[in-house]
Amino acid sequence: MISKELILKNLDNTIDKTQFDFGSFKKGKVRDNYILDDKLIMIATDRQSAFDRILANVPFKGQVLTQTSVFWFENTEDIIQNHKIAHPDPNVVVCKKLTVFPVEVVVRGYITGVTNTAVWTAYKSGVRNFCGNPLPDGLKKNQKLEKPIITPTTKSKDHDEKISGKDVLKRNLMTKDQWEYVSKKAIELFKRGTEIAKQNGLILVDTKYEFGYDDKGNIYLIDEIHTPDSSRYWIKDTYKKRFEKGEEPENIDKEFLRLWFKKNCDPYNDKVLPEAPDSLVVELSRRYIMLYEMITGNEFAPRTGNLKQEIKKNIQEYLEDAE
Ligand SMILES: Nc1ncnc2c1ncn2[C@@H]1O[C@H](COP(=O)(O)OP(=O)(O)O)[C@@H](O)[C@H]1O
Ligand SMILES: [Mg+2]
Repeated sequence: MISKELILKNLDNTIDKTQFDFGSFKKGKVRDNYILDDKLIMIATDRQSAFDRILANVPFKGQVLTQTSVFWFENTEDIIQNHKIAHPDPNVVVCKKLTVFPVEVVVRGYITGVTNTAVWTAYKSGVRNFCGNPLPDGLKKNQKLEKPIITPTTKSKDHDEKISGKDVLKRNLMTKDQWEYVSKKAIELFKRGTEIAKQNGLILVDTKYEFGYDDKGNIYLIDEIHTPDSSRYWIKDTYKKRFEKGEEPENIDKEFLRLWFKKNCDPYNDKVLPEAPDSLVVELSRRYIMLYEMITGNEFAPRTGNLKQEIKKNIQEYLEDAE
């Protein structure tokens, strides 16, 4: 595990945004995407988003996201083909440009969460059917569900809406065959994720998958998979004891950063946000790296050079070779 000093030293050496001249630019919350003919070059920046804003740039975050995703793509290829063509740089995945289904396929193995849209929040207020999934009485917060459930969300610019599998069909977001295929694959992926996480001391609590299709109708897993941005992970060793005592599981997520902003400003309305304390940003970076190392069993090899220049060069070289 790299030292806090190294993270601290790199607080200003982060990728906030890129401006390259490869193809047409499409900015996401976290990724800078460049469309080039039938390819999509996805560059994971170090932007940390929450409340639909950027809260900070976190050293090594983009690298962790990319390398975690690549690990999972390689370890799930036998379940479903994915969009990855090449990985020419620690922050970059070159993928097949596909048509994205307007549905995020969320899979949950545990009943948890604190936000207005969380399963636990709904359950606590008496809901016993969540996105088409019946839930038994008597569940406790953070309890494992009997079987993982799928709770789809529409993918839209303004606000994501929770729906059921039936709604996916009713709204013609996918055909019946497509939905059946994708939901079967999502469960298989989640099962694989759970197994590998378990071997490495982690619980994969919940996650989100995106799927897309090519012009022949072939379906692919796209975007990112089982990253700390798209998933919740808990530490396995301490889960049971804590659950039995009614304590929160040890998590590795960005909740503490969210809480800091909620305490120190109004992140939904303030025009300018205060700067997060260095110590918090360093801690978040450390947690992302720890997660990468636990999941993959690899030691994290931080890149500390001139990041944008290296990324540009690596992509350029890839494109020249691919010609
Ligand atoms: N293979 C693909 N083809 C086309 N679009 C994709 C593919 N993989 C991912 N995407 C889209 O690219 C974007 C990735 O950037 P990101 O920062 O995650 O965006 P967002 O703010 O929408 O989450 C997402 O909108 C995702 O749906
Ligand atoms: Mg995204």
